Amino acid sequence: MSALPTVVSEFASAFGAADCALSATAEAAQWVDSALFSRIAADVRARGYSVCPGALPPVLAGGLLEHLHSMSDSRFTRAGVGRKHGHTLNDFVRTDEISWINGESVAGQQWLAWAGALQQHLNRELLLGLFSFESHFAHYGPGDFYRKHMDAFRGEANRVLSLVAYLNPGWQMGEGGELRLFTGPESGAMLSVQPLLGTLVVFLSEEFPHEVLPASRDRYSIAGWFRVNGSNGARVDPPR
Ligand code: OGA
Ligand code: MN
Repeated sequence: MSALPTVVSEFASAFGAADCALSATAEAAQWVDSALFSRIAADVRARGYSVCPGALPPVLAGGLLEHLHSMSDSRFTRAGVGRKHGHTLNDFVRTDEISWINGESVAGQQWLAWAGALQQHLNRELLLGLFSFESHFAHYGPGDFYRKHMDAFRGEANRVLSLVAYLNPGWQMGEGGELRLFTGPESGAMLSVQPLLGTLVVFLSEEFPHEVLPASRDRYSIAGWFRVNGSNGARVDPPR
């Protein structure tokens, strides 16, 4: 697999080539599953979204879960709506808490390396020109929700592809917390995804409204976005 050394060295330099970052990314590189990544690419090409139960490598999922539970509550902040200056807290739209993943933990580095490998693979197969990736942990307490929304808007958008990974072992039907993806706005077609550990959902950010239903138990996920470079003369990407 000729692409792997590039992934490792790219991420090593992104993290200042710290020893632990190097070994974390090297480890993550071993989990790269080209067949899975190709299936995601084919799904996105055919219909704009992909839902893959069991997509997260078990060691990665386990590491993320362990890290999540070791994080103190103070690392999480109430999620807002809108970007930068338009950013406001809005209890009507969403009530979850988030913590951005910047690679300061080994699990976070492994996640970024894995997502970086997916980015490279999708760029090769779909020519989307994905340029960067941002992601955060999200915690929805019992009753929390995120109403129907879009992750990007035509014209202003540089979020191209949304990705959600779930971190809830043993999630049961009837506990709520489904992601609802509205796959056909006109027909009202809808896909419902249980937030079970290991499931990955990928979709075109500008195409699919979606919502998170309230659950009866704590619900953990990672939401991430692959972006194109939106820099121009007046603005340097990325703002957050
Ligand atoms: C988001 C989002 C979905 C989920 O954070 O933008 O839509 O299932 N999350 O957590
Ligand atoms: Mn969303």
